[in-house]
Amino acid sequence: MFGIDVPIFAFSHCRDVVAAVTKAGGLGVLGAVAHSPRQLEIDLDWIEEEVGGRPYGVDLIVPAKYAGSDDGGLSMSDIGAMIPDDHRKFVDDLLTKYDVPPLDDERATGQFSTKNDAAAPFSADSQAPNLDISLAHDPAILVNALGPPPQFMIDKVRAAGRRTGALAGKAQHAERHVNAGVDLIIAQGYEAGGHTGDVGTMVLIPEVVDAVGDTPVLGAGGIGGGRQMAAAMALGAQGVWCGSVWLTTEEAETHPVVKEKMLVATSSDTIRSRSRTGKPARQLKSSWTEEWENPQTPMPLGMPMQPILVDEALSRISRAAHRDGSGAEKLANYFVGQIVGSMNKSKPATQVVYDMIDEFIEANERLNSQING
Ligand SMILES: Cc1cc2nc3c(=O)[nH]c(=O)nc-3n(C[C@H](O)[C@H](O)[C@H](O)COP(=O)(O)O)c2cc1C
Repeated sequence: MFGIDVPIFAFSHCRDVVAAVTKAGGLGVLGAVAHSPRQLEIDLDWIEEEVGGRPYGVDLIVPAKYAGSDDGGLSMSDIGAMIPDDHRKFVDDLLTKYDVPPLDDERATGQFSTKNDAAAPFSADSQAPNLDISLAHDPAILVNALGPPPQFMIDKVRAAGRRTGALAGKAQHAERHVNAGVDLIIAQGYEAGGHTGDVGTMVLIPEVVDAVGDTPVLGAGGIGGGRQMAAAMALGAQGVWCGSVWLTTEEAETHPVVKEKMLVATSSDTIRSRSRTGKPARQLKSSWTEEWENPQTPMPLGMPMQPILVDEALSRISRAAHRDGSGAEKLANYFVGQIVGSMNKSKPATQVVYDMIDEFIEANERLNSQING
């Protein structure tokens, strides 16, 4: 379908990881949800220069359902007005409790400002320019998380001669995607970093494979090595889609404090929490998740109110986390899956691909010798 050497897809927000995996024979996919149109243009130009015609992809998040989706979308100021005072107070008190300093003047807000009429993040309106910029470039595949890609996205991508992919956490999601015209399904299980459902990868992959007929399926969630890759392919997947394993690579732009936490974390050190985006997303446990899990804490809001509520707080925490022993260091965390327990050494992304292939071949040989005696 893509003319790649090895069926390893790398989801990453970091363009260096995307290019490295594509150059190693896999297919890098740039997570573009937080990219401004200008930044996306710069990154796609750079990636194309690096990969020299080899295939890469772009991942946008256009959820099927979000606050205001039935009424044509809300602006940032509409959403700002929907955030209860109790929630704002909780976040302010948390930053005071952990002694997290404010941002300096020239960057006095986080990524989202509620003082303007821009389209809210995680909405069809906010992602439309990035879809057009992607199609003006040369990605082989455009992927959507959180529901089936909207019909306008499928139609535009198809008209441009590219493929669409979509993540599925249930067999029913996958069926819906295929009926909508999606070309590639990513069956992503509970172990995964980021937004994830409640069905484990081991159960999900064969269910999705059985549900979608001839549409190819990639296995995702908890895949960081060749044994897991062999397992996913034994379950019927045509390849694998990995997100967490790149976060501790040498190229990754993961916050250095969080990278260190990931390198020593065990597979029990993650939690599915709505505290960052409003939807359940697996992330590293830290004081941040502990505080949001506390029964006294207000329940996280929905998407996109919660990400707007916590945006500036997360920027403040990132900015101050490098101070040893600080409250910000304790709070710092990021999305990552259970495979974090095996991510114990920082390596180049290319090496991750090569190690995965070596281990995949060994796993197959072991299975063959068990079958053949
Ligand atoms: C840091 C991080 C951010 C993610 N953000 C997105 C995203 O914006 N869009 C998306 O489709 N998937 C996103 N995911 C999910 C990945 O695409 C992928 O399905 C998942 O990481 C696979 O499971 P793994 O984490 O066990 O490798 C994210 C995952 C991580 C770890």
